[in-house]
Amino acid sequence: MKISSSQPLRGKYYHIKTFGCQMNENDSERMAGLLEESGAERVSSPEKSDIIIVNTCAVREKSEDKLFSYLGRLSHLGKKRDKVVGVTGCVAQLYRNSLFTKNESIDFIAGPDNYRQIVNIILEVRKEKRAATQWSRNWQNIPYESTVHENPVSSYVTIMEGCNNFCTYCVVPFTRGREKYRPVKLVLDEVKFLSSLGYKEIILLGQNVNCYQDPDTGEEFFLLLRRVTEIDGIEWIRFITSHPKNFNKNLANTMNENQKICRQLHLPVQAGSNSVLKRMKRGYTLEEYLEWIRLLKSLMPDICLSTDIIVGFPGESEKDFHKTCDLLEEVGYTNIFSFRYSPRPLSAAGRYQDSVPLETKKKRLIELQELQKKIQLRQNKQKVGRVMKVLCLGHSKKDPKIYSGRNEGYQVVNFKADRDFTGNFVMVRITSCGPYSLRGEAVNNALFSLSRINHTTESSYRKD
Ligand code: SAH
Ligand code: SF4
Ligand code: F3S
Repeated sequence: MKISSSQPLRGKYYHIKTFGCQMNENDSERMAGLLEESGAERVSSPEKSDIIIVNTCAVREKSEDKLFSYLGRLSHLGKKRDKVVGVTGCVAQLYRNSLFTKNESIDFIAGPDNYRQIVNIILEVRKEKRAATQWSRNWQNIPYESTVHENPVSSYVTIMEGCNNFCTYCVVPFTRGREKYRPVKLVLDEVKFLSSLGYKEIILLGQNVNCYQDPDTGEEFFLLLRRVTEIDGIEWIRFITSHPKNFNKNLANTMNENQKICRQLHLPVQAGSNSVLKRMKRGYTLEEYLEWIRLLKSLMPDICLSTDIIVGFPGESEKDFHKTCDLLEEVGYTNIFSFRYSPRPLSAAGRYQDSVPLETKKKRLIELQELQKKIQLRQNKQKVGRVMKVLCLGHSKKDPKIYSGRNEGYQVVNFKADRDFTGNFVMVRITSCGPYSLRGEAVNNALFSLSRINHTTESSYRKD
């Protein structure tokens, strides 16, 4: 086969396995775009691929282990030299070249700042089997036009990367580096492009979006958000992650004033005890956190809130833990992501004594999750009978008449419909629920023309 210089990977098959957060998912989509531009084709199995990329997460011990068990599962492929195996993402950046000694099947290592050169790295490995990893302090722009989107309706748009906060339990500042901001113009260009492709929802991404500043003008996050709302075609806008320490009234007001910004916010609290928050170096007290929650609920009574919780942080007493449980009751989160603390390399708390026994951590996590399950069920039951707007993402594999989507609060809604609504907003009447999802059926004339979709329409339906 003739290899064109603009498509040096023509005839090659690739597979990307992604672990970790939304930013990793978005990075994989962008790497896939660069590989496809160079002629490579995606395959769903690593066995059939010439290039295997494992995009990794280092945030917890368990996340890190996933890389090695995945590589273990690939070991049946043998060390065939015609296959290139690369490790990218946060584990790659954290351990760099020392990963080569941990697993002999790895051919290259590339951190988040190397993705722009991913094709060259692969080509060099094929010639010289060389490792590549370096860390840049500036925003590394990857052309967005070629991104291979996993979802045809909702898209991530990364606006910043890295973190300057150094929460004592966290490895992310050592894997993603210091904060780097994508210029406003590039963000808006990508959103406009996505809109022209028919995307209806965008999720702005960053480790700490509230600290966003345009690198040239210093324009803040709430101003960027306002500009994004002005782009036609995009109907739902979300953003993640917001640090409570950097939350501000301008942002709350911007959410309140713009119908396109979903009444949904992920605001990670981590713990309900001030002494634990202080040792985590989170930079806020429980009372300050609750002030933001009160403000948000008073402005937007229907807002759906979610959070992250760590149980078993060094020194967390039974009393501290119960303060976290009280907080869950008080806020009434729609969803939580909860984890057992695990010490991370380079993090400050990694040097503390990991004092809470594993059994206690496990017990606390179960107790917390059981409590949250009850809260969610109680809240979801109140939604039965309501009619709400749902962005339909596809149908169930088992039953093609059951569709799945998300409501404005980012809850999963499974619903019956007699036509395919994939990619559209649908009005769904909620008929039953579980703790983790809502179930319902599409109402007559459920499909909305985009111009009619707004909050007024939704609330008038709710009164039916
Ligand atoms: N930038 C985001 C968090 C990214 S990490 C923020 O500041 O909220 C995602 C979540 O993983 C964190 O919110 C925290 O709950 C959890 N996490 C991070 N380090 C952890 C550790 N060492 N042990 C257990 N959970 C951890
Ligand atoms: Fe980690 Fe804290 Fe930064 Fe979030 S804000 S990425 S938890 S250091
Ligand atoms: Fe994991 Fe890196 Fe995201 S450590 S959570 S993949 S930023």
